[in-house]
Amino acid sequence: MAEKKSSSWVLMVTAQTPTNIAVIKYWGKRDESLILPINDSISVTLDPSHLCTTTTVAVSPAFSHDRMWLNGKEISLSGGRYQNCLREIRSRASDVEDEKKGIKIAKKDWENLHFHIASYNNFPTAAGLASSAAGFACLVYSLAKLMNVKEDNGQLSAIARQGSGSACRSLYGGFVKWIMGKDYNGSDSIAVQLVDENHWDELVILVAVVSSRQKETSSTSGMRETVETSPLVLHRAKEVVPKRIIEMEEAIKSRDFPAFARLTCSDSNQFHAVCLDTSPPIFYMNDTSHRIISCVEKWNRSEGTPQVAYTFDAGPNAVMIARNRKVAALLLQRLLFHFPPQSDADLNSYIVGDKSILKDAG
Ligand code: ADP
Ligand code: DP6
Ligand code: CO
Repeated sequence: MAEKKSSSWVLMVTAQTPTNIAVIKYWGKRDESLILPINDSISVTLDPSHLCTTTTVAVSPAFSHDRMWLNGKEISLSGGRYQNCLREIRSRASDVEDEKKGIKIAKKDWENLHFHIASYNNFPTAAGLASSAAGFACLVYSLAKLMNVKEDNGQLSAIARQGSGSACRSLYGGFVKWIMGKDYNGSDSIAVQLVDENHWDELVILVAVVSSRQKETSSTSGMRETVETSPLVLHRAKEVVPKRIIEMEEAIKSRDFPAFARLTCSDSNQFHAVCLDTSPPIFYMNDTSHRIISCVEKWNRSEGTPQVAYTFDAGPNAVMIARNRKVAALLLQRLLFHFPPQSDADLNSYIVGDKSILKDAG
């Protein structure tokens, strides 16, 4: 190592990554360890100033092993997902020089250096708001910056995918497609940006936190049980989703809100139907979630054309996409009226804007 005088130096990078919410859902793997999905999916990346992960990665010769703290609590990095991400990023490291601190790290030195990682989610973890997506995307992105990895976002997305499937889509802003790929090694199972965050900037995304409690069935085990037991899931993956992906891409490109809302709501409902078709059935939504669906459906029907799309990931929390700011303001009013905060529904609301970009925070 070039810097030999002392082992007291620390080099750090901090990054922020927003979460993403799927409008055509990923649910089911064909390869558990590489995290290869059974269908393509499409998501929208949220504004990083709202729901996001902030991760600081530090490297120092004084660190004897890799350690990570999530929301202030130390977690084990022994799981395959963390190990796969760390290995893949380490193997792509380049020389790093920090002239101000007098630090020089050669490519080969990275093999013997260790990290301390601190990550915070500013929204509920493991509650169906895609913390694993923002979390692993941010981990991979910040490590790549620290180690001067020269891969593009597509290649980084294939590494983030090995942490959590949905994470590959958080490397880009706007609307993003995760192409399932065909290769046995996953090299073509990557995310691509369909349109950037400015393409459809009238949309307003509103997240209603129905419950911030950790879900009982993680996404990973839920989708494994579905693939093992649901007779419906292959029909969904092979027959339904491929058509919806084509229609959804078209709706996004032409900013066709009625088609977008129809596809988004139908796909969320079919994903939850497939969860119900799992044995034993998985219930991610609760009564409040169902009441939110009824409220939006009634409103859309009374207007004659959709004003709001809803979608629910693996949890009870609602993500609603309003066609414009005026509708978003009305929607918030209605939600506050029907689900007053501090009622038994435990519903808090956030308005989330439409701009989303990855940014370096330090
Ligand atoms: P969610 O719906 O929130 O994505 P999942 O069941 O898919 O829930 O994943 C939750 C898991 O993701 C957590 O238990 C943790 O292992 C991982 N995770 C969440 N946030 C982070 C983070 N910031 N950094 C690394 N891993 C994270
Ligand atoms: C319902 O990406 O969290 O949010 O790949 O096992 O980590 P793992 O699962 P994860 O699953 C996300 C499922 C979903 C739909 C989606 O984001 O597409
Ligand atoms: Co997740």
